[in-house]
Amino acid sequence: MAKLTVRDLNVRGKRVFVRVDYNVPLEEKDGQMVITDETRIAETLPTLRLLIEQGGKLILAAHLGRPKAKREPTMSLRPVAVRLAELLLQPVAFADDCIGEKVEKTIGIMKPGDVLLLENVRYYAEEEANDPVFAEKLAKVADVYVNDAFGAAHRAHTSTEGVARVVAKRGGQCAAGLLMERELKFLGDELDKPARPFVVILGGAKVSDKILVIDRLLEKADAILIGGAMAYTFRLAQGYKTGKSLIEADKTDVARAALAKAQQRGVKFLVPLDDIIAEPVKTDKLDKKGKPVMDYQAVRVNTDPNCPDNAAGLDVGPATVKAYSDEVLRAKTILWNGPMGLFEDKRFAEGTNAVARAVAQATQQNGAKSIIGGGDSVKAINKAKLGSQVTFMSTGGGASLEFLEGKVLPGVAALTEKF
Ligand code: 3PG
Ligand code: MG
Repeated sequence: MAKLTVRDLNVRGKRVFVRVDYNVPLEEKDGQMVITDETRIAETLPTLRLLIEQGGKLILAAHLGRPKAKREPTMSLRPVAVRLAELLLQPVAFADDCIGEKVEKTIGIMKPGDVLLLENVRYYAEEEANDPVFAEKLAKVADVYVNDAFGAAHRAHTSTEGVARVVAKRGGQCAAGLLMERELKFLGDELDKPARPFVVILGGAKVSDKILVIDRLLEKADAILIGGAMAYTFRLAQGYKTGKSLIEADKTDVARAALAKAQQRGVKFLVPLDDIIAEPVKTDKLDKKGKPVMDYQAVRVNTDPNCPDNAAGLDVGPATVKAYSDEVLRAKTILWNGPMGLFEDKRFAEGTNAVARAVAQATQQNGAKSIIGGGDSVKAINKAKLGSQVTFMSTGGGASLEFLEGKVLPGVAALTEKF
């Protein structure tokens, strides 16, 4: 059912509580936290500008990272307020808390068109617990509730769900922001009745992460192309050797069921024809999580469906690139989620880059609609500098997957129905 959007509101002089997803990647540089990708901030600007023009008092709430209810200084939203002010070309005040008297006082003197960003709501354990008392505290400053945080809409947390319920109970309006509306349009409506052929490319590490999406898309797609490490669970299911490739040995039945359903429904289901393999060796270096960094030796193309015992598959091979690109170039609707290989290492990036190029070409030359389902595929498209050549890139990771699985997102469900 259609939800109220910010276009339906009149917020003049009202306090508008806007939930945004400013969970952006940050890196420490000379003792300062620096934003390394501001897409999620930039994508909220249309919503914010509209509400500012309408004369609302904007109170923005967001989370950053997973601070586990501690005031973790590296997870403060303060740097985001600074960047948002630059992008909006107007001051953005920052409150070092998200509830309490001081915050209420600051809001009490706001004027129409003013913008205030609240500190990380996850500094409170009550946020993720969707605590009703915390919801009342946050909602104290809200006349209207707007949710533009598609990326966090799969969470039933206080600021994404509970606050909306409180505002609605009081008879207040709860509306979707323009980014939220766009995400639902492209990942929802556009894929519900896709122009055909509808080709889906799914990659990433695990079959278990994608199986619900695969299952749902088997009902809609004309072709599904599989890449990434999860292809090896399919190979294992088909009886091949997978060497040291990343697999989920307990998911072969799931993979077989998907293959059977594809055959039964007449959906073309492609797994890699060849791959790029290498021999993994541990180095002395440790990654951020304290695990040894792997290096890969003897990188080569493998045309045997079996992988040697001492090697791992790390990208799709040239024959697969050709077959997948051909399929993509025939498509009228394309959905892509998940890289084809370990694309962070340029020796294993060609499969992902080639798919990115084919998707861009299909969009630009054949008028296909291309929808990139968030997370690593968006990173890969941006890295290949092809972001402007696809139809839509989602700002959601987990949220877009859950939405594509057909799940109801709590952050959307809580919004006011439009009659
Ligand atoms: C994300 O980046 O995935 C969203 O902002 C949600 O964050 P979370 O996975 O920590 O809930
Ligand atoms: Mg997440």
